[in-house]
Amino acid sequence: MSSIENLEPFNAYSLVNGQWRSTTNTTEVLNPATGATVAQVAAQGAELAVEAVEAARAALPSWSKTSAMERSQYLERISQLLLEQIDGLALVLTTEQGKPLAEAREEIEYAASYFAWYAGEALRAYGRLVPAGAENQRVMVRKCPVGVVTAITPWNFPCALLARKLAPALAAGCTFVAKPALETPLTALALGAITRQAGIPPGVVNIVVGADSQAIGEVLTQHPAVAKFTFTGSTAIGTQLLAQCAAGVKRTSLELGGNAPFLVFEDANLEAAVDGLMAAKFRNAGQTCVSPNRILLHQDIAAPFLALLRERMAALQMGDGEDPSTQLGPLIHAQAVVRIQQLVAAAVAAGAKVETFDQAVPGPAFAPPQLVTNINPEMDLFQQEIFGPVVAVMTFSDETNAVQLANATPYGLAAYAYTQNLQRCWRLYEDLTVGMLGLNQGRISSAMAPFGGVKASGFGREGGPEGIEEYLSTHYLAWGDCT
Ligand code: SIN
Repeated sequence: MSSIENLEPFNAYSLVNGQWRSTTNTTEVLNPATGATVAQVAAQGAELAVEAVEAARAALPSWSKTSAMERSQYLERISQLLLEQIDGLALVLTTEQGKPLAEAREEIEYAASYFAWYAGEALRAYGRLVPAGAENQRVMVRKCPVGVVTAITPWNFPCALLARKLAPALAAGCTFVAKPALETPLTALALGAITRQAGIPPGVVNIVVGADSQAIGEVLTQHPAVAKFTFTGSTAIGTQLLAQCAAGVKRTSLELGGNAPFLVFEDANLEAAVDGLMAAKFRNAGQTCVSPNRILLHQDIAAPFLALLRERMAALQMGDGEDPSTQLGPLIHAQAVVRIQQLVAAAVAAGAKVETFDQAVPGPAFAPPQLVTNINPEMDLFQQEIFGPVVAVMTFSDETNAVQLANATPYGLAAYAYTQNLQRCWRLYEDLTVGMLGLNQGRISSAMAPFGGVKASGFGREGGPEGIEEYLSTHYLAWGDCT
C-alpha cells in the first residue's frame, strides 16, 4: 500500500516496521451517517504492539542521529503530501468519522500545519553553553530525544490529533507507535501511508490497530523500551493509563476532558459572541474537547443573545457529511445520542427548559441541535462534558459570580469570554483556571500555540515550542580540567 487510494475496504492493516500487517481477526469500521460498513480492519492484539515497540526501539539509534535538517525536510514533505492528497483524505475522514467534508478538509490542513510548524522547530532544539563556576570548567546543556514514544489517539480528530503528537516527536528525533481509536483507524493508516511516501525509514512510525484496548494499552504504557506515553481522551481512561505509566516512571502527557465555559458579558458585541459560539460549539457536532459546554450569559443580555442564537441554530443544516450543504453531521454512534438525550432529560426533570430545533433526524447517530436554558451547577449537564450539539445556558449577575461559576468544575482545558472591557480581559486571563482562553474569539486551536489543560484536563502541551519540549530531555555536561 503506497497511497491513500489503496486504503479500500478489506485492505486496512496495521503498519509495523515499514510493513502492512494483517490478521484474520477483523472488526468493522462503520459510517456513522448511514450505518454502512466502510472497511473491515485487521484487529491486532498485544503481540503486534510489542513488535511495534521493538521496531521503534531498533529504529531509534539511526533516526535520532539523522541531522535536524534532514528531519525537518521529512516533516515538510509529509505536510505537502497531506495537502496534495487532501480530497481523498477528507473523504476517508468524513466516511469513518461523520464530520462534514468542509470540516474534514480543515482537519487535514490543520494536521499538515503541525508537520510544517515542527519542520521549523526541528531546527531549533538548541542547547546552551553556560558560564561555569570555575575557570577551568565548562558547562554545557543539550536537548536529546526522549526515545520511543507511544500514543493513544481519539476518534474526534483522527488525523490532527495524531499529527500533533507525531510531528513534534519526529522533529525531536523520537520513534513512534500509535494506537488510533477503533472507530476511525483509516485516517490514521492513511497518515501512516503518507509517512512511507515521504520516505520515513521503517520502524520510525508504527500504527497498531487493535480491538483489545486494555492489552495494547498495557504494552504502550509498560513496555520497558517505552520512554514516553501520550494520550488524548477521557479523564477516566487517562487516569488509569497514568497509573500504568507510573510503575515504569514513563514521561507522560495527557490531554483529557474539558468542560469549557463560554462567558458573555453585558458589554460584549453580541453578534460576534453568537458567531464565536456557533463556530466553537457546532464544530464536529460538538464533539471537541474545547467545545463550549456551559454558556454563561450576563442576565441583562441573555434575552437578545438567545434571540440571535435561536435564529442561527434553526438555520443549521443537518445531514450526511458527504453532502456539501451539511453543516452538522452525525455523532460518532447511536449510543452517543442516547447519552446526550439522558443528560438533557435529567436536566429537564430538574427544572431546565429545552428547545429542539426541528430537524428531520436522518439516522440513529444524529442528534438535533438543542438549546437548554435554566441549567444549574448541580446538574450533570453542567458538570459533565456534553460532546454533542446541545447548548446549555445559565445566567450570572456580575463578573465575580461569572468567574466562580466558570471555575466550578474539576476541569480546566479551555474557556471563552466576550467583553469589550480591557481591564476585565486581563482579570479573566488571570482568574479563569484553564490552560487556554479565547477572548472575543471562538477558534483557539493552532499549530503554533500550546494546546493543553490544567486540573482534571491533564498536563503537557501540544503545539508551539512547548510541544517539542514534551519529546526532549535535557542533559548537562560538567567538564573539568579545561585549561
Ligand atoms: C480536541 O478535541 O481534543 C482537539 C480539538 C482541537 O484541536 O481544536
